Amino acid sequence: PRSIWISRHGESMYNLSGQIGGDADLSARGQQYAKLLPSLVSKSAGDRPLTVWTSTLKRTGQTARYLPYEKLSWKALDELDSGVCDSMTYAEIEEAYPQDFKARDEDKYNYRYLGGESYRDVVIRLEPIIMELERSENILIVTHQAVLRCIYAYFMGVSQEQSPWMEVPLHCLIKLTPRAYKTEEERFHADV
Ligand code: F6P
Repeated sequence: PRSIWISRHGESMYNLSGQIGGDADLSARGQQYAKLLPSLVSKSAGDRPLTVWTSTLKRTGQTARYLPYEKLSWKALDELDSGVCDSMTYAEIEEAYPQDFKARDEDKYNYRYLGGESYRDVVIRLEPIIMELERSENILIVTHQAVLRCIYAYFMGVSQEQSPWMEVPLHCLIKLTPRAYKTEEERFHADV
């Protein structure tokens, strides 16, 4: 049966400092994940050739760097745009935009950052990606937390409104295999 592999990028310098968005490089630990990823992938994909889809942001390209496959980068896979809050920490956002911070907490799926996006917006811009995925085989997607939560919810048959709460940790490769009644899931954690 066909499978889809998904992974977040390795830990970035912004993950370390707790800043959201941006276009940071990988941290040393994130680079270690990039080096381990090819063996993590071949463990579950064997020697079938995959195609790797990344976003246009540096951290996903750096994570995919050592994968010996064809690569394609998509703007539609870029992280949820946090608008005026880009590059801030959650504490800084709460301080600068307390009402927005509260509004997001109350309705995380619909909350749209000022000058940016909501999860709902991301689900809509992912439609062409999902369509392309449905007619492709052997795709490995290396992208960002919010985007992967939406893709994961879609394949797991979870309502899109639940996307913001899906558990998609760093340094973990997830293999999804859609079956007649439900999608089978396997997780491979990297030791970094
Ligand atoms: O912190 C990493 C990150 O990918 C940010 O760039 C992004 O804004 C955030 O996670 C999304 O997670 P949440 O919707 O829980 O804030």
